[in-house]
Amino acid sequence: MQSFDYFIFFIFSLIYYVQFVNCASECINLDISIIQKVEHEGFRREIKWLIETASPTNEVWQESNCKLCLKLDVSNGMFVNPDEIAELNRTQKLQIFLDGNVDIEAPAHEASEHSVYFFLNGLDIARLSVKLPVHLRYQRGQITGGYGKVPLRKPSLLVWCPKHLVTVCGRGLKVEAPCDVAYSQVCVWKNHTYQALFDDVELFVPVGDLDDYPLVSIVSLLLGCAGCVYILSILSTTPL
Ligand SMILES: *[C@@H]1O[C@H](CO)[C@@H](O)[C@H](O)[C@H]1NC(C)=O
Ligand SMILES: *[C@@H]1O[C@H](CO)[C@@H](O)[C@H](O)[C@H]1NC(C)=O
Repeated sequence: MQSFDYFIFFIFSLIYYVQFVNCASECINLDISIIQKVEHEGFRREIKWLIETASPTNEVWQESNCKLCLKLDVSNGMFVNPDEIAELNRTQKLQIFLDGNVDIEAPAHEASEHSVYFFLNGLDIARLSVKLPVHLRYQRGQITGGYGKVPLRKPSLLVWCPKHLVTVCGRGLKVEAPCDVAYSQVCVWKNHTYQALFDDVELFVPVGDLDDYPLVSIVSLLLGCAGCVYILSILSTTPL
């Protein structure tokens, strides 16, 4: 009888073990593609991302309780306006968190970088779109003027599954980021690879004569005076 008990115990342990391993090894295959478009010209642009999920279905995703977040690092050549972000947060039903201090007056060489996080919670992940207004900063001026180039970084797609035993397939570097829009805590997200259906872009920005306006005017004034003096000297030395 004793050995039979052990046998039953062994069988149950085996079943439990097999089930546990099965659960743990089942991961969600998250297959996402992103299209990016930049609209408008000049200093005010709008970036649009169309995010499409081939797998899993939205129901499976919502049940998994996993979170998706789109993160954009904004380089010092541009900035997002905190007021506009707050407005989008209210009207677009997107939860947006802005990390970093934004000086909207600073020219590019004096500005610091910041990051924008879009928490894509409770949205239909089959197809969703996100837009972000950005402003290009004045570049350090050259007397010749012309155009400066500001590279636009690719957004990172972060995933985090708070429930135990639910994971998203694939390896990805761990990234620390706020858990939610209120920044209640820092969570360890996974940097998930997605299909980027767009090329790297550089935004062209007019290089301001604005920065150097006083210098430019002084130089042109001096050149003008020199011209006058030269002409006068020729006139005065030429015998009439
Ligand atoms: C966005 O709204 C949430 C509340 O829904 C708020 O906690 C958060 O601070 C807002 N973010 C910004 C950038 O205004
Ligand atoms: C995520 O990975 C991509 C490419 O592997 C990289 O360019 C990006 O900087 C990473 N994002 C973060 C937040 O670490």
